[in-house]
Amino acid sequence: MKMIGLTASPRAAGNTNTLVTKMLEDAASKGAETKHLDLAKLDIKPCKGCNYCKTHEECVQKDDFASVIAEIKSADGIIIGSPVYFYDITAQEKLFIDRLYSCVDAQFKSRIPAGKKVAFIYSQNTPNRAAFESNLAKYDQVAGMLGFQNVGKFVSVGDVKANPAEVESAVALERKMFDTL
Ligand SMILES: Cc1cc2nc3c(=O)[nH]c(=O)nc-3n(C[C@H](O)[C@H](O)[C@H](O)COP(=O)(O)O)c2cc1C
Repeated sequence: MKMIGLTASPRAAGNTNTLVTKMLEDAASKGAETKHLDLAKLDIKPCKGCNYCKTHEECVQKDDFASVIAEIKSADGIIIGSPVYFYDITAQEKLFIDRLYSCVDAQFKSRIPAGKKVAFIYSQNTPNRAAFESNLAKYDQVAGMLGFQNVGKFVSVGDVKANPAEVESAVALERKMFDTL
């Protein structure tokens, strides 16, 4: 069983990466193969809107996006993590999500094998964890369009290294996903 984490924070040792690392460590301790891909460090260019992917099976652009998709296709469980920047995900994650357009065909049928599980991690400073719920809900729709089964989300608040309960809640979400794989 394989679980991967995709994170989109420019802060390598920040909250999002800390939580997703702990989640993957927990999955690995139970025997999962794990891999962490840092979208903020990879070379992933913005979607060109050229529609090449509607007449071909893949994106026309040759960068690191294809290797991330290969990892997604070989994974059973996928964690997607982003800080909240101005009430929404980071530009690094949005850019990646736009490129996922190449993973649906002209009829909007997913090219990713069905049945993969996904869980979302968000990190923010606003104490109200539901503050940006309506903005973040659209990424649940993206997951649905790709044929992923959404296990849930956890919104962390503040410095997670100073608050063990934040890490515990993220790991609880990973365990929920792990138990379905
Ligand atoms: C450009 C920028 C915009 C931000 N916008 C918000 C925001 O709208 N709401 C919020 O609660 N926190 C906001 N924050 C705080 C981050 O979401 C928070 O520090 C988060 O934990 C950072 O995650 P990271 O450590 O994984 O990078 C913002 C931070 C930055 C740098």
